[in-house]
Amino acid sequence: MDRRFFSQSLAFAAGMFSYLRNGAANSDDQEAAGQNASAARSTSRAVTVEDFIPLAKAKLPKATFDYISTGSEDEVTLHNNVEAFRRMRLLPPLMHGVNKVNLETTVLGQRIAMPIMLAPVAVQRMFHPQGARAAARAAGKAGTVFVASTSAGNSVEEIAAAAKGPVWFQLYVPRQREVAKRLVQRAERAGYQAILVTVDLGERKDADLRNGFRPPQDMLLKHLRDVGHTQLTEQHSYEELWNFNAKAWELSLSWEFFEWLRGETQMPILVKGVLSPEAALKAVSLGLDGIVVSNHGGRKLDGMPASIDVLRDVAAAVDGRIEILLDSGVRRGSDVLKALALGAKAVLVGRPYAWALAADGEAGVTRVLEILRDELTNAMIASGCPTTDRINESVIMKNQA
Ligand code: FNR
Repeated sequence: MDRRFFSQSLAFAAGMFSYLRNGAANSDDQEAAGQNASAARSTSRAVTVEDFIPLAKAKLPKATFDYISTGSEDEVTLHNNVEAFRRMRLLPPLMHGVNKVNLETTVLGQRIAMPIMLAPVAVQRMFHPQGARAAARAAGKAGTVFVASTSAGNSVEEIAAAAKGPVWFQLYVPRQREVAKRLVQRAERAGYQAILVTVDLGERKDADLRNGFRPPQDMLLKHLRDVGHTQLTEQHSYEELWNFNAKAWELSLSWEFFEWLRGETQMPILVKGVLSPEAALKAVSLGLDGIVVSNHGGRKLDGMPASIDVLRDVAAAVDGRIEILLDSGVRRGSDVLKALALGAKAVLVGRPYAWALAADGEAGVTRVLEILRDELTNAMIASGCPTTDRINESVIMKNQA
């Protein structure tokens, strides 16, 4: 896209324990009369990713909106994720003669149209009736990867069938290894092209506790059955399902898990939740294929550093041996530029598309991806980077306080 044209133009799986029940009803009737047209108008008027926040807020029950938007404890990490990007100053060279850019890149050898992917996000049918299937379609149409959460709200097969492009599978590890094994095998058979294991576990957010946020019974049952616990039925009470869920997940993971997983799948393996050079080096030594530098969007241990603040040191330790992705706090195309400049191959976004999905389903997610793509195009032109592989530290101001 050239400048002229451009200027015209759950974790209710492993994490959530000890919540109160409230029955925050899913609004399956969201698409009712008249709402679609007004959502479409609002979506096409959205100029920034954050324009979707009030739209999502207007559509969702408070507990669901808060579930998406809030972070753990004092939200220090949540806010710092965004602030750390904003603090970082760009100072690219002037007059570099670039007026056209190509956003394509590869992740684990797969060509994608832009270095922006959709992160694994739980319970998406609580945000929109079409849930993860709509988000996967939007990612595919934009030519990028959809990472399906274990807790997305649809089975691995349903999401793969809906997707129009590459899908990766995010694994929360079922405590019963047989269940874990079958789930991984099903994902591989359904055509997922990589498996990403999230290792920062234990979600406990004040807002969710205050709101008594919990998925409705039908979704909880479907989720557990989709994972492989097919012995569960509608005959089970909510409390029975909830207690089963609380014990169904492996919360005491250790690095040995990856040796087991390597023996079970041919898919490339990534670990999500790396924030230190030591952990990154461990992933290298285990022969993993990639890492996701992530603090889970500030939803896990509050006080952990912003992903973008640790990226440079992690990339130096990895030294090109495995691929680095980053998430947590990406809200602008220029954030993507910053992450790529410091060593990430691509970024993932979570809340931006969750808000947009709530606001307007697939069209909302499509718009979020367009906004980020156009902002990145602009940032690359302004920085003199015609291709993503030409983005490097020279665009970042030296000696920042
Ligand atoms: C998440 N995230 C997440 N991660 C994961 O590995 N499995 C999951 O099921 C979920 N579920 C989930 C639900 C919701 C509502 C959100 C907002 C996030 C974390 C997600 O993959 C990603 O790490 C963060 O969202 C990135 O931060 P931003 O983009 O939200 O700032």
